[in-house]
Amino acid sequence: MCGIFAYLNYNVNRERRHILQVLFNGLRRLEYRGYDSAGISIDDGDFSSFPRSSSDGSLSPPPLVFRQEGNIESLVKSVYQEVVATELNLEKSFTTHAGIAHTRWATHGEPAPRNSHPQTSGSGNDFLVVHNGVITNYEVLKETLVRHGFTFESETDTEVIPKLAKFVFDKANEEGDQTVTFSQVVLEVMRHLEGAYALIFKSRHYPNELIACKRGSPLLLGVKENDDVCNGSAFHDAKFLLQNSNPKELFLSSDANAIVEHTKKVLVIEDGEVVHLKEGTVSILKFNNDKGRNGGSRSARPASVQRALSTLEMEVEQINKGTYKHYMQKEIHEQPESLTTTLRGRLLRGGSWKAKTVLLGGLKDHLKTIRRSRRIVFIGCGTSYNAALAARPIMEELSGVPVTMEIASDLLDRQGLIYREDTVVFVSQSGETADTLLALEYALENGALCVGITNTVGSVIARNTHCGVHINAGCEIGVASTKAYTSQIAVMAMLALAIGADTISKQERREAIIDGLFDLPNKIREVLKLDQEMKDLAKLLIAEQSLLVFGRGYNYATALEGALKVKEVALMHSEGILAGEMKHGPLALVDENLPIVVIATRDACFSKQQSVIQQLRARKGRLIVMCSKGDAASVCPGGGCRVIEVPQVEDCLQPVVNIVPFQLLAYHLTVLRGYNVDQPRNLAKSVTTQ
Ligand code: UD1
Ligand code: M6R
Repeated sequence: MCGIFAYLNYNVNRERRHILQVLFNGLRRLEYRGYDSAGISIDDGDFSSFPRSSSDGSLSPPPLVFRQEGNIESLVKSVYQEVVATELNLEKSFTTHAGIAHTRWATHGEPAPRNSHPQTSGSGNDFLVVHNGVITNYEVLKETLVRHGFTFESETDTEVIPKLAKFVFDKANEEGDQTVTFSQVVLEVMRHLEGAYALIFKSRHYPNELIACKRGSPLLLGVKENDDVCNGSAFHDAKFLLQNSNPKELFLSSDANAIVEHTKKVLVIEDGEVVHLKEGTVSILKFNNDKGRNGGSRSARPASVQRALSTLEMEVEQINKGTYKHYMQKEIHEQPESLTTTLRGRLLRGGSWKAKTVLLGGLKDHLKTIRRSRRIVFIGCGTSYNAALAARPIMEELSGVPVTMEIASDLLDRQGLIYREDTVVFVSQSGETADTLLALEYALENGALCVGITNTVGSVIARNTHCGVHINAGCEIGVASTKAYTSQIAVMAMLALAIGADTISKQERREAIIDGLFDLPNKIREVLKLDQEMKDLAKLLIAEQSLLVFGRGYNYATALEGALKVKEVALMHSEGILAGEMKHGPLALVDENLPIVVIATRDACFSKQQSVIQQLRARKGRLIVMCSKGDAASVCPGGGCRVIEVPQVEDCLQPVVNIVPFQLLAYHLTVLRGYNVDQPRNLAKSVTTQ
């Protein structure tokens, strides 16, 4: 959903052309999140000749604001058209400059320039704001501001923020306080805001300064000290980096993707913090007693805090497509490697006398509590929910604890029961999905042990759960989740192994699963060889309206997830159906035209699936059967159906292998049908609003 980015160069000469390129590239890195409009703000003149000013007549020129609906490239085009029309000098060099940028996913008001960000305090652009999240009390604030003479031009909730900043600033000046600082203004604004947000402020009253603050939505600061302008000296002390006034470049973003190509040194901004970038230093103020994302009173005096920088554990290559045409294609094909990283250091084979075990560093102190829990509850949305569903049978089998499933929004809608004796597992690739986050808050309030399974280190879910496991699948950019799904299942299988590790009777079963996990990357390499076969199948299905997928047992989840992939990217109706339910309704749909995939790989449900195939064939169903290698004749005696043969693995790991042909099918169908693979219509990568 919305993405924010800012770039501040301090004592480093940068031409306006370069500044624009950095801002545009930052926006391009945020594109994958989904958006429908974008905007930036840069300075008109060189603010270094304009000291901070209020009513002394030497106010610096208003910052320039460019906003456009549509994609980043239409924003870029419109900016350069404007540059030509206004004869803006692209070669003009700024020793210090603060620029901000935003991609917007429409929530309040249609996609249109007036609703895009930066949102402004008014015609002079005294205060500009880019915002992620939702301000829940914006209507009340708007009414108050209208009463004070402000006029609003957008339908957004965001517009109240810059206007409130101007109101606070003007009021301080009217009251004779001409030394009010940028952070004081923002702290006062924050006091009035309710909801979830990450914000960046820019102001002509505080040239070359930026303020970032957040509650709920993610925000990172990247710090790059320029060796060239520092005469080659390197600064490694984190606090020094934040406090010295050496030349540097600072980046703010809602997403590490937009920062990693510039620097790996980051500060993960925390809720309630106000980060002030001024004259090369970074100062942080924090509200005490912050009450969380739903607002509430806070203590009046924010305190100054010291924070250390951390290092981003990702590589620039992760955010490039390499030799692939699309991120989704790259992410499908890199699953042998992503699974290897997921498993690395966590599977212990032991010596000849030692048992094979798993080690999940983040959970070892909590396993006893989990084993004693009355119930394990899996919570997630979309693909993450499906991954949990795939892992449910093995979790029940190995842990001996009943496992229930919750789609996060449904749990919240009905305020389902969560007890202190429950262990609640939150599964989320991004770690910032709004429904899952709210379900986490709810489970915390109810006293349950909360375990996170996330891909994003430092994400809200990773930080707010009591413990958890990072799936370490690497950055996933395609909106359709692929490699995160397989890594999530692998992690949950390891979780089941860890919880059940003290049951002697199941040692043989556990060791077979551990061997299966070791071999999983190889099996994925093998199943990826079906790429051309899936492309041929996609050619056959290109004009279909609908595709049904029947699965059961371990592979009920595969049916749901396979259908979700086809639906979300190829924009073809597709439904995953529990095969056991076939005769209770779906059978009525079967005829010689509707394509149906039946998953019938070898496990305890195999014979039941054989019977499903027979019944479908008796009704002339148009079948595509997924079976284990060598089983074509058993699943489709006499021929007549299309068969996809996949390598056989330990039954509980089979969903990891079986989903791959569906991912390939969805990918090829999308390309052949001419749709956008990485940013499917109407969808966002991280669903940060309810
Ligand atoms: C950790 C290190 C890894 C290092 C390894 C060496 C991190 C992020 N991971 O990996 O770089 O190689 O030790 O032993 O520093 N957590 C949650 N909620 C979540 C996810 C994780 O609370 O949703 C917590 C865990 O309980 C743990 C910490 O985050 O305390 C790190 O989790 P994880 O990366 O899975 O731990 P390790 O695999 O041990
Ligand atoms: O980041 P999360 O795993 O919490 O996201 C949950 C869903 O929004 C996500 O899995 C969605 O269903 C994917 N686009 C599916 O490919």
